[in-house]
Parts: sequence; C-alpha cells; structure tokens
Amino acid sequence: MKKIAVMTSGGDAPGMNAAIRAVVRTAIYNNVQVAGIRRGYQGMIEGDIFNMDTTSVSNIIQRGGTILKTARSKEFMTPEGRKKAFEQLKKHEVDGLVLIGGDGTFKGAHAFFGEHSLPAVGIPGTIDNDIAGTDYSLGFDTAVNTAVDAIDKIRDTAEAHDRMFIVEVMGRDAGYIALNSGIACGAEDILVPEKDTDFKSILKRISNDKRRKKLVNIIVVAEGDDFGGAEAVKAKILEHFPRIDVRATILGHIQRGGSPSYFDRVQASRMGYAAVNTLLKGTSQVMIGLENQQIICTPFENAIKEHAPLDMDMLEMAKILSS
Ligand code: F6P
Repeated sequence: MKKIAVMTSGGDAPGMNAAIRAVVRTAIYNNVQVAGIRRGYQGMIEGDIFNMDTTSVSNIIQRGGTILKTARSKEFMTPEGRKKAFEQLKKHEVDGLVLIGGDGTFKGAHAFFGEHSLPAVGIPGTIDNDIAGTDYSLGFDTAVNTAVDAIDKIRDTAEAHDRMFIVEVMGRDAGYIALNSGIACGAEDILVPEKDTDFKSILKRISNDKRRKKLVNIIVVAEGDDFGGAEAVKAKILEHFPRIDVRATILGHIQRGGSPSYFDRVQASRMGYAAVNTLLKGTSQVMIGLENQQIICTPFENAIKEHAPLDMDMLEMAKILSS
C-alpha cells in the first residue's frame, strides 16, 4: 500500500484530531504516503484531497473539532455521487482509506464498497456512543464531561431559586449521554429513547417531593426521548403543577466542542494507530473498536446493523440512587 487517505465525516467529535494525527504519523512511520480529504464524503466527491506530512498534524492532539472539517453529504447517498468519489480517489492514487465518523459514515462506506473496491478501515467517532461493535466511540467521554459540568452549574442556580430544571442533552436516538450525565449529576429522573417514558411515576415523584418540601430537582432528557424533549416535558409538568417553578435548558452543540479529555486522546491514538496497521496487514472493510479495553475489528455491515444497546440496569440503578 503506497497511499492512504484519511477523512472525518458526520457530526464532529472531540478526539477526531488526535485520531487523524495517529493515522498520519503511523502511516509515515511505515513509509506510506498520506492524503487528507476535507469535508468527508462531499470533499471526496469534489476531489478536495491534499497531501499531509508529520507537521500537518502538529499541535492538534488537544484540539476539538476536526482539522479535516466534516459534512453530511446527500450526493454520496446516490450511486452517481459514489462513482465520482471513487474516480477522485483513483485520480489521487489513493489505495487505502481511513474513515472516522458515526453510523452514517459506516452506512455510506457499506454502500460505497458494495459498488467499488478499495481497502478501508473505520474509526468510530461520535459523541452519541451508539455504534454497535465497539464499547466506545471517540468524543463520548468529553461530551459527557461537558454535559456534567453544565448540569452541575444548573444545579447551583436551581438550588438558589428552589427551581426544577429539565435539561436536554444530545444523542440523537440514543440515550448514552443522558444516562451517564444524569447518573453523574444525581439527576432525579433520566428520560431516554430506549425506554417509554413513565410520566405517571414522574408526576408521583414530584408530588412526593412537594410534600416533603424538596423543591429542587433535575430531569435529564435525551433529545430523542419519546416525549419530545425538554420543552415538551416542561409543558406536561406545568399541566399538572401549574405553580411549579420550572425551566427547560437545551445544552445543544456545546456538547460537541472543546478540548478532548485524556481518555478520548488516548483511545483516538490507539484507534488511529490500529487502523493503519490493520490496513497494512491486509484486513479491510472493518471498523476498529474497543471491547474490554482491547482493540478489536468489526465488519462494517455489523457496525451498522443496529444501535449499541443501552444498559438498562444502569437506568434502574439511577432511579434507586436518586430516590
Ligand atoms: O451525532 C452527533 C450529534 O451531535 C447528535 O447527538 C445530534 O442529534 C446531531 O449530531 C446534531 O446534528 P447537527 O449538528 O447536524 O445538527
């Protein structure tokens, strides 16, 4: 293999830069040239491809976002778009690919490699942590820490005013960020898409809390929850308790930015290193993952089959611990 191209695609995640750095430096160490593709599959279609060297990735391990930029490409969803992308890769003499992204990235990869033949390895990068075939996706640890920091601050003002807060966190249709930030902040309730919301029990808890004059509480809601997010939960609570002092806060894209945690930097380094070594050993069309702290490989088709399941025992535990 003479030239590997690396790209980031889908929502950015803290740790993507650390993974790019590891890919570039491992390839160069093995005397393989590296090209960067800007803006994911869209940049691939447009031939936005440039040569990288070890200095291209200096001073980026600690930076959020992605130096390669990212995009969600509609054109790549068509066979014509994918054909154009393949032609660009051939033109730039790319003979191996490292794709860093979430399930949309691997769905795209699966379609692409069903039509065109080129060795590729994926690295899971999404704050949602919902990809099957790995215990961990880059960015999740940093995003949860950001959410925890924000919710702790919200609790300060909630305490000061004796208020209830409904805090909405990201995760698309997965509840990992909600579950973990909710546990870490001692949230009184955690609403996730993986479980139907039992609103009756939330109302009962609020009644009990009012009776014992516990006025502050925090409900963490995943954006994909069946109830429709923080504002919908707030409206429903007000329907039953019109005089309650309640605010809704949507944390939003703050969760995607910021300097990656040590954990994300280390896992990104391991995964980037493993991705290049996997390609060089001749294994491809797999995603690098972590299982029990060890690096593993999962075929793209398995990584996109389903979402990683949420640990329902943890949700049960959270309920008991906050009672
Ligand atoms: O997949 C990462 C994520 O941040 C989700 O949690 C969220 O639903 C989505 O991306 C938001 O996407 P966009 O930045 O395109 O609005």
